Amino acid sequence: KILVLDFGSQYNQLITRRIRDLGVYSELKSHKMSATEIKAMAPKGIIFSGGPNSVYDDGAFHIDPEIFNLGIPILGICYGMQLMAYDLGGKVEKADNSEYGHATIKITNDDARLFEGLPREQTVWMSHGDLVTSVPEGFESVATSESCPISAMQDTSRQFYGIQFHAEVRNTEFGIDILKNFAFNVCQATANWSMDDFIDLSIQKIRDTVGDKKVLLGLSGGVDSSVVGVLLHKAIGDQLTSIFVDHGLLRKNEAEQVMDSLAGKFGLNIVQVNAQERFLSKLAGVSDPEKKRKIIGNEFIQVFNDEAQKLEGIDFLAQGTLYTDVIESGTDTAQTIKSHHNVGGLPEDMHFELIEPLNTLFKDEVRELGEKLGIPHDLVWRQPFPGPGLGIRVIGEVTEDKLEIVRESDWILRDEIAKAGLDQEVWQYFTVLPGFKSVGVMGDGRTYDYTVAIRAVSSIDGMTADFSKLPWDVLQKISTRIVNEVEGINRVVYDITSKPPSTIEWE
Ligand code: XMP
Repeated sequence: KILVLDFGSQYNQLITRRIRDLGVYSELKSHKMSATEIKAMAPKGIIFSGGPNSVYDDGAFHIDPEIFNLGIPILGICYGMQLMAYDLGGKVEKADNSEYGHATIKITNDDARLFEGLPREQTVWMSHGDLVTSVPEGFESVATSESCPISAMQDTSRQFYGIQFHAEVRNTEFGIDILKNFAFNVCQATANWSMDDFIDLSIQKIRDTVGDKKVLLGLSGGVDSSVVGVLLHKAIGDQLTSIFVDHGLLRKNEAEQVMDSLAGKFGLNIVQVNAQERFLSKLAGVSDPEKKRKIIGNEFIQVFNDEAQKLEGIDFLAQGTLYTDVIESGTDTAQTIKSHHNVGGLPEDMHFELIEPLNTLFKDEVRELGEKLGIPHDLVWRQPFPGPGLGIRVIGEVTEDKLEIVRESDWILRDEIAKAGLDQEVWQYFTVLPGFKSVGVMGDGRTYDYTVAIRAVSSIDGMTADFSKLPWDVLQKISTRIVNEVEGINRVVYDITSKPPSTIEWE
């Protein structure tokens, strides 16, 4: 096993994920762990993640210095390298210019262990404001770039390694190979970890936590909660009751589909709650996106509370929270980007304990898990749909009329994408109602109506995304149909921004 210590980088769980992809078990742990605790876990290696601080600042995250005396190989990435340099007697300074993006590094040492078997020149992804300007005693600099003279360093006797760039992101050309060299050559780890182990471990963990108590699951019909449902059903059978809330923010025909497949095929015990009125009245007059998300999240929990009270003896609430939801909502080390409904919206006085079996996984890992659990391919490969649903696709205040426009235009978009055979190719696609009106002409008359925006992206895990280059003729058909078939629309636009700098959803 390889431990990743968290210093607050948005990419920290991505590191553990890359290591798991190599077949080596990896977990993210707090940087506050003591050397004794780490020793008890007997990891083959430790990785220090990146982070937003400067090591020399007051309040910057540091570690138990004894960790350096455990005799366990350590790899420091970005902040992790700076921390290693600073704490072991090297020098870290503010860079003249912060560096974000691609850079070319040159390997300057023939015995650079992390770069064994790799080209001497390679493209990497840099994202930092500080630099290591002098390596600690025992270290040597092994790679250099134009704006970062010490891009990598090593101390092969103590097995300490540092890289200034992010090996865990795909933009680093040989990132995976570098992590491979660390895991297998340096740490001598064995590749014996797979998704089956994850299933066994989770089932065991769920049984240990739940005992003979009862669990309530909020089922949305999306991939995440469906996978949680089937996993829990496997672990605890009838101790699980699922609640499917129709909050009035669902896509067309969605409620029927969910009930058919999960209650019908898998035999899950599902209670359907029709709460459209409750949600819409709470959302009336609210246009701030964060407020809307919080309201929807809170209302979800209220509905659960109400239903659970009818059910008697429920102690746990299970959720399909993914790692991406956790990290973007902010952890104790990372900054908040958006509050995802199943994290940020939880009220203080919640009556349940939470079970979130997927909160270390990324979307594509959840899909792999779904396939392993025998969930039908169609359901597993459904495009992601956010918890707050169409509520965050009507920009600004949510009304029934506006929801209807999004619902109908989304239905047309999905239909045309499926007809064009692109539904497995495009990762996520939907329509948004920005809520402004513009002038058009239809027949012989002037119109003054709403605009619908089309969003279509390709992504691996939702953390980054590229806008999809849908064929013009498909876009043309979609545009024509939306204007003709959806009342109140006279213009269709196409969103051509990627993430970053945008997010996938508009709110
Ligand atoms: P963003 O908009 O943050 O979205 O780039 C990334 C992915 O997450 C989905 N998303 C959510 N999923 N609860 C969820 O379960 C939420 O509150 C939420 N907000 C966004 C979004 O659809 C995209 O796939």
